[in-house]
Amino acid sequence: MKEKIVVREALDTDREAVFRFCEKTWSWGDYIPRVWDKWMKNKSGKIFVATIKNVPVGISHVKVDKVKKEAWLSAARTAPEHRRKGVATAIARKCLKYAKQNGAEKARLVTSSDNKAARIVLQKLEFTPIAEFVEMITEKIKPRRSLKSKWSKLRDLKPIWMFLQKSEIFSKSARLFTILFRWYSLTLRDLEWFITQGKAVVYENRGKIEGLTLIDDSTAKEWQENTIQTCYIDGNEETIMDMLNFLATYCHKQGIKKIYGFTCKHQTVTSVMKKLGFEEPDEVEIVYEKKL
Ligand SMILES: CC(C)(COP(=O)(O)OP(=O)(O)OC[C@H]1O[C@@H](n2cnc3c(N)ncnc32)[C@H](O)[C@@H]1OP(=O)(O)O)[C@@H](O)C(=O)NCCC(=O)NCCS
Repeated sequence: MKEKIVVREALDTDREAVFRFCEKTWSWGDYIPRVWDKWMKNKSGKIFVATIKNVPVGISHVKVDKVKKEAWLSAARTAPEHRRKGVATAIARKCLKYAKQNGAEKARLVTSSDNKAARIVLQKLEFTPIAEFVEMITEKIKPRRSLKSKWSKLRDLKPIWMFLQKSEIFSKSARLFTILFRWYSLTLRDLEWFITQGKAVVYENRGKIEGLTLIDDSTAKEWQENTIQTCYIDGNEETIMDMLNFLATYCHKQGIKKIYGFTCKHQTVTSVMKKLGFEEPDEVEIVYEKKL
Protein backbone atom coordinates (compact mmCIF):
# COMPACT_ATOMS: atom_id res chain seq x y z
CA MET A 1 0.00 0.00 0.00
CA LYS A 2 1.20 3.55 -0.77
CA GLU A 3 2.43 5.42 2.31
CA LYS A 4 0.53 8.62 3.08
CA ILE A 5 2.61 11.78 2.66
CA VAL A 6 1.55 14.82 4.68
CA VAL A 7 3.06 18.23 3.86
CA ARG A 8 2.97 21.00 6.46
CA GLU A 9 4.94 24.03 7.60
CA ALA A 10 8.16 23.19 9.42
CA LEU A 11 8.22 23.16 13.22
CA ASP A 12 11.20 23.80 15.50
CA THR A 13 10.89 20.18 16.61
CA ASP A 14 11.63 18.96 13.04
CA ARG A 15 15.14 20.31 13.26
CA GLU A 16 17.02 17.21 14.43
CA ALA A 17 15.30 14.78 12.09
CA VAL A 18 15.84 17.11 9.13
CA PHE A 19 19.51 17.73 9.94
CA ARG A 20 20.02 13.98 10.24
CA PHE A 21 18.66 13.14 6.78
CA CYS A 22 20.61 16.07 5.29
CA GLU A 23 23.93 14.90 6.75
CA LYS A 24 25.06 13.20 3.54
CA THR A 25 23.20 15.15 0.84
CA TRP A 26 26.48 16.11 -0.84
CA SER A 27 29.99 14.75 -0.31
CA TRP A 28 30.74 17.78 1.89
CA GLY A 29 27.43 17.61 3.83
CA ASP A 30 24.71 20.24 3.45
CA TYR A 31 24.07 23.92 4.12
CA ILE A 32 20.61 23.37 5.66
CA PRO A 33 21.79 23.44 9.32
CA ARG A 34 23.45 26.81 8.63
CA VAL A 35 20.29 28.45 7.25
CA TRP A 36 17.56 26.68 9.26
CA ASP A 37 17.19 29.27 12.07
CA LYS A 38 17.26 32.20 9.63
CA TRP A 39 14.64 30.58 7.40
CA MET A 40 12.40 29.66 10.36
CA LYS A 41 12.38 33.31 11.49
CA ASN A 42 11.98 34.89 8.05
CA LYS A 43 8.45 36.11 7.34
CA SER A 44 8.76 36.25 3.56
CA GLY A 45 9.59 32.56 3.21
CA LYS A 46 8.58 29.15 4.50
CA ILE A 47 10.12 25.74 5.01
CA PHE A 48 7.69 22.95 4.21
CA VAL A 49 8.21 19.49 5.65
CA ALA A 50 6.78 16.21 4.40
CA THR A 51 6.08 13.50 6.92
CA ILE A 52 5.30 9.82 6.62
CA LYS A 53 3.73 8.35 9.79
CA ASN A 54 4.55 11.65 11.54
CA VAL A 55 8.28 11.36 10.80
CA PRO A 56 9.91 14.16 8.73
CA VAL A 57 11.17 12.69 5.45
CA GLY A 58 11.64 15.71 3.19
CA ILE A 59 11.85 19.49 3.05
CA SER A 60 11.90 22.42 0.69
CA HIS A 61 12.07 26.18 1.12
CA VAL A 62 10.12 28.83 -0.74
CA LYS A 63 10.57 32.59 -0.64
CA VAL A 64 8.29 35.13 -2.27
CA ASP A 65 9.36 38.54 -3.52
CA LYS A 66 6.08 40.43 -3.40
CA VAL A 67 7.35 43.40 -5.39
CA LYS A 68 8.67 41.32 -8.26
CA LYS A 69 5.85 38.80 -7.87
CA GLU A 70 8.29 35.93 -8.15
CA ALA A 71 9.05 32.98 -5.91
CA TRP A 72 12.32 31.17 -5.39
CA LEU A 73 12.31 27.50 -4.41
CA SER A 74 15.37 25.91 -2.86
CA ALA A 75 16.68 23.13 -0.64
CA ALA A 76 14.54 20.25 -1.92
CA ARG A 77 15.68 17.26 0.12
CA THR A 78 14.20 13.82 0.54
CA ALA A 79 15.62 11.37 3.09
CA PRO A 80 17.54 8.75 1.05
CA GLU A 81 15.37 5.85 2.25
CA HIS A 82 12.17 7.67 1.20
CA ARG A 83 13.12 8.71 -2.33
CA ARG A 84 10.96 7.81 -5.34
CA LYS A 85 7.77 7.89 -3.26
CA GLY A 86 6.55 11.29 -4.47
CA VAL A 87 7.84 13.24 -1.44
CA ALA A 88 9.67 16.01 -3.38
CA THR A 89 6.74 16.31 -5.79
CA ALA A 90 4.24 16.71 -2.93
CA ILE A 91 6.38 19.37 -1.19
CA ALA A 92 6.98 21.28 -4.45
CA ARG A 93 3.23 21.42 -5.13
CA LYS A 94 2.66 22.85 -1.64
CA CYS A 95 5.41 25.44 -2.17
CA LEU A 96 3.88 26.48 -5.51
CA LYS A 97 0.46 26.84 -3.91
CA TYR A 98 1.93 28.97 -1.10
CA ALA A 99 3.79 31.12 -3.66
CA LYS A 100 0.65 31.72 -5.69
CA GLN A 101 -1.41 32.57 -2.60
CA ASN A 102 1.26 35.10 -1.67
CA GLY A 103 1.10 36.93 -4.97
CA ALA A 104 3.83 35.24 -7.01
CA GLU A 105 3.14 34.95 -10.72
CA LYS A 106 6.13 32.74 -11.42
CA ALA A 107 8.36 30.39 -9.50
CA ARG A 108 12.00 29.67 -10.21
CA LEU A 109 14.78 27.50 -8.92
CA VAL A 110 18.21 26.30 -9.92
CA THR A 111 19.71 22.87 -10.27
CA SER A 112 22.97 21.53 -11.62
CA SER A 113 23.16 19.86 -15.01
CA ASP A 114 24.47 16.70 -13.30
CA ASN A 115 21.44 16.39 -10.96
CA LYS A 116 19.42 13.93 -13.00
CA ALA A 117 16.88 13.20 -10.25
CA ALA A 118 16.03 16.86 -9.71
CA ARG A 119 15.78 17.52 -13.45
CA ILE A 120 13.27 14.71 -13.94
CA VAL A 121 11.17 15.84 -10.96
CA LEU A 122 11.14 19.38 -12.41
CA GLN A 123 10.15 18.19 -15.85
CA LYS A 124 7.25 16.24 -14.33
CA LEU A 125 6.19 19.38 -12.43
CA GLU A 126 6.20 21.25 -15.77
CA PHE A 127 9.05 23.61 -14.98
CA THR A 128 10.90 24.92 -18.06
CA PRO A 129 14.67 25.52 -18.23
CA ILE A 130 15.08 29.24 -19.06
CA ALA A 131 18.79 29.99 -18.73
CA GLU A 132 22.17 28.43 -18.04
CA PHE A 133 24.86 29.85 -15.80
CA VAL A 134 28.35 28.85 -14.72
CA GLU A 135 30.35 29.63 -11.64
CA MET A 136 33.85 30.43 -12.91
CA ILE A 137 36.40 30.85 -10.14
CA THR A 138 39.75 32.61 -9.95
CA GLU A 139 42.32 33.30 -7.30
CA LYS A 140 44.70 34.80 -9.86
CA ILE A 141 44.22 38.36 -8.72
CA LYS A 142 46.74 40.98 -9.74
CA PRO A 143 46.72 44.53 -11.12
CA ARG A 144 45.84 44.57 -14.81
CA ARG A 145 45.59 47.32 -17.37
CA SER A 146 42.09 48.60 -18.13
CA LEU A 147 41.27 51.55 -20.36
CA LYS A 148 37.63 52.48 -20.37
CA SER A 149 36.07 50.76 -17.35
CA LYS A 150 34.91 52.67 -14.29
CA TRP A 151 32.53 52.49 -11.36
CA SER A 152 29.13 53.50 -12.64
CA LYS A 153 27.36 56.69 -11.55
CA LEU A 154 23.61 57.27 -11.30
CA ARG A 155 23.65 59.28 -14.51
CA ASP A 156 24.55 56.00 -16.30
CA LEU A 157 21.32 54.34 -15.12
CA LYS A 158 19.15 54.96 -18.18
CA PRO A 159 21.97 54.39 -20.73
CA ILE A 160 22.80 51.05 -19.04
CA TRP A 161 19.13 50.08 -19.15
CA MET A 162 19.00 50.90 -22.87
CA PHE A 163 22.18 48.87 -23.40
CA LEU A 164 20.58 45.88 -21.66
CA GLN A 165 17.41 46.02 -23.74
CA LYS A 166 19.48 45.42 -26.87
CA SER A 167 21.82 42.88 -25.32
CA GLU A 168 21.88 39.29 -26.52
CA ILE A 169 23.53 38.25 -23.24
CA PHE A 170 20.73 39.85 -21.18
CA SER A 171 18.16 37.94 -23.15
CA LYS A 172 20.19 34.69 -22.91
CA SER A 173 20.37 35.26 -19.13
CA ALA A 174 16.54 35.41 -19.11
CA ARG A 175 17.08 38.96 -17.72
CA LEU A 176 18.36 37.49 -14.45
CA PHE A 177 21.24 38.26 -12.10
CA THR A 178 22.66 36.19 -9.23
CA ILE A 179 23.39 36.85 -5.61
CA LEU A 180 24.86 33.82 -3.86
CA PHE A 181 23.00 30.92 -5.45
CA ARG A 182 19.73 32.71 -6.08
CA TRP A 183 18.66 34.32 -9.33
CA TYR A 184 16.45 37.43 -9.56
CA SER A 185 14.86 39.41 -12.37
CA LEU A 186 17.02 42.46 -12.98
CA THR A 187 14.91 45.61 -12.76
CA LEU A 188 15.79 49.27 -13.13
CA ARG A 189 15.54 49.51 -9.34
CA ASP A 190 18.09 46.73 -8.83
CA LEU A 191 20.41 48.47 -11.23
CA GLU A 192 20.03 51.68 -9.26
CA TRP A 193 20.83 49.75 -6.09
CA PHE A 194 24.02 48.25 -7.58
CA ILE A 195 25.13 51.71 -8.76
CA THR A 196 24.49 53.47 -5.44
CA GLN A 197 26.25 50.65 -3.57
CA GLY A 198 29.32 51.07 -5.79
CA LYS A 199 28.84 47.58 -7.21
CA ALA A 200 28.40 48.32 -10.92
CA VAL A 201 31.30 48.57 -13.36
CA VAL A 202 30.63 49.96 -16.82
CA TYR A 203 32.70 50.17 -19.97
CA GLU A 204 32.09 53.54 -21.55
CA ASN A 205 33.31 54.44 -25.01
CA ARG A 206 32.77 58.03 -26.24
CA GLY A 207 29.82 58.47 -23.90
CA LYS A 208 28.25 55.13 -24.86
CA ILE A 209 27.82 52.16 -22.51
CA GLU A 210 29.29 49.04 -24.09
CA GLY A 211 29.66 46.75 -21.11
CA LEU A 212 28.29 46.08 -17.62
CA THR A 213 29.54 44.01 -14.69
CA LEU A 214 27.62 43.79 -11.42
CA ILE A 215 29.32 42.52 -8.29
CA ASP A 216 28.41 41.73 -4.69
CA ASP A 217 30.12 40.80 -1.45
CA SER A 218 27.45 38.53 0.05
CA THR A 219 29.84 35.60 -0.39
CA ALA A 220 32.26 37.34 1.98
CA LYS A 221 29.55 37.97 4.57
CA GLU A 222 27.95 34.55 4.26
CA TRP A 223 31.12 32.47 4.33
CA GLN A 224 33.40 34.88 6.26
CA GLU A 225 35.85 34.98 3.38
CA ASN A 226 37.75 37.67 1.60
CA THR A 227 35.89 37.17 -1.68
CA ILE A 228 33.45 38.78 -4.08
CA GLN A 229 31.17 37.46 -6.76
CA THR A 230 30.05 38.72 -10.11
CA CYS A 231 26.26 38.89 -10.35
CA TYR A 232 26.01 39.75 -14.04
CA ILE A 233 28.50 40.23 -16.90
CA ASP A 234 27.65 41.70 -20.31
CA GLY A 235 29.57 43.12 -23.25
CA ASN A 236 31.81 42.00 -26.10
CA GLU A 237 35.23 40.37 -25.88
CA GLU A 238 37.11 43.65 -25.58
CA THR A 239 34.78 45.33 -23.09
CA ILE A 240 34.44 42.27 -20.85
CA MET A 241 38.23 41.86 -20.78
CA ASP A 242 38.64 45.52 -19.83
CA MET A 243 35.99 45.39 -17.06
CA LEU A 244 37.42 42.18 -15.56
CA ASN A 245 40.91 43.70 -15.61
CA PHE A 246 39.48 46.72 -13.78
CA LEU A 247 37.86 44.39 -11.26
CA ALA A 248 41.07 42.37 -10.76
CA THR A 249 42.97 45.60 -10.04
CA TYR A 250 40.28 46.68 -7.55
CA CYS A 251 40.37 43.26 -5.82
CA HIS A 252 44.15 43.37 -5.62
CA LYS A 253 44.04 46.80 -3.97
CA GLN A 254 41.38 45.64 -1.51
CA GLY A 255 43.20 42.40 -0.67
CA ILE A 256 40.31 40.31 -2.03
CA LYS A 257 41.59 36.78 -2.60
CA LYS A 258 39.00 35.12 -4.79
CA ILE A 259 36.34 35.99 -7.36
CA TYR A 260 33.34 33.73 -7.86
CA GLY A 261 32.61 34.63 -11.46
CA PHE A 262 28.94 33.85 -11.90
CA THR A 263 27.89 34.41 -15.48
CA CYS A 264 25.43 33.33 -18.09
CA LYS A 265 26.94 30.44 -20.10
CA HIS A 266 27.74 32.56 -23.12
CA GLN A 267 30.74 31.71 -25.28
CA THR A 268 32.05 35.31 -25.42
CA VAL A 269 31.98 35.76 -21.66
CA THR A 270 33.35 32.37 -20.66
CA SER A 271 36.20 32.43 -23.20
CA VAL A 272 37.39 35.85 -21.98
CA MET A 273 37.17 34.66 -18.38
CA LYS A 274 39.23 31.56 -19.19
CA LYS A 275 41.87 33.75 -20.85
CA LEU A 276 42.09 35.71 -17.59
CA GLY A 277 42.62 32.53 -15.57
CA PHE A 278 39.10 31.77 -14.36
CA GLU A 279 38.46 28.04 -14.09
CA GLU A 280 35.35 26.69 -15.74
CA PRO A 281 33.39 24.04 -13.83
CA ASP A 282 32.10 20.81 -15.40
CA GLU A 283 28.54 21.49 -14.30
CA VAL A 284 26.17 24.11 -15.59
CA GLU A 285 23.59 25.72 -13.30
CA ILE A 286 20.20 25.58 -14.96
CA VAL A 287 17.49 28.01 -13.87
CA TYR A 288 13.96 26.66 -14.27
CA GLU A 289 10.72 28.60 -14.25
CA LYS A 290 7.04 27.80 -13.93
CA LYS A 291 4.19 30.24 -14.45
CA LEU A 292 1.70 30.16 -11.58
C1 LIG B 1 15.97 15.36 -6.04
C2 LIG B 1 15.16 14.76 -4.89
C3 LIG B 1 14.73 15.90 -3.96
C4 LIG B 1 13.94 14.02 -5.44
O1 LIG B 1 13.16 13.60 -4.36
P1 LIG B 1 12.08 12.40 -4.43
O2 LIG B 1 11.22 12.56 -3.24
O3 LIG B 1 12.78 11.11 -4.57
O4 LIG B 1 11.30 12.75 -5.78
P2 LIG B 1 9.86 12.17 -6.24
O5 LIG B 1 9.61 10.86 -5.57
O6 LIG B 1 8.85 13.21 -6.03
O7 LIG B 1 10.14 11.95 -7.80
C5 LIG B 1 9.17 12.20 -8.77
C6 LIG B 1 9.62 11.58 -10.09
O8 LIG B 1 10.86 12.14 -10.50
C7 LIG B 1 11.66 11.11 -11.12
N1 LIG B 1 12.84 10.82 -10.30
C8 LIG B 1 13.10 11.18 -9.02
N2 LIG B 1 14.31 10.74 -8.63
C9 LIG B 1 14.83 10.09 -9.69
C10 LIG B 1 16.06 9.41 -9.90
N3 LIG B 1 17.00 9.31 -8.93
N4 LIG B 1 16.27 8.86 -11.11
C11 LIG B 1 15.36 8.94 -12.11
N5 LIG B 1 14.15 9.56 -11.95
C12 LIG B 1 13.91 10.13 -10.76
C13 LIG B 1 10.79 9.89 -11.17
O9 LIG B 1 10.13 9.92 -12.42
C14 LIG B 1 9.85 10.09 -10.04
O10 LIG B 1 8.63 9.45 -10.22
P3 LIG B 1 8.54 7.81 -10.06
O11 LIG B 1 9.34 7.47 -8.84
O12 LIG B 1 7.08 7.57 -9.92
O13 LIG B 1 9.14 7.27 -11.31
C15 LIG B 1 16.01 13.72 -4.08
O14 LIG B 1 16.61 12.81 -4.98
C16 LIG B 1 17.10 14.35 -3.22
O15 LIG B 1 16.86 14.70 -2.05
N6 LIG B 1 18.31 14.48 -3.78
C17 LIG B 1 19.43 15.11 -3.09
C18 LIG B 1 19.24 16.61 -2.94
C19 LIG B 1 18.97 17.28 -4.26
O16 LIG B 1 19.57 16.98 -5.29
N7 LIG B 1 18.05 18.26 -4.25
C20 LIG B 1 17.66 19.03 -5.40
C21 LIG B 1 18.50 20.23 -5.49
S1 LIG B 1 17.93 21.25 -6.80
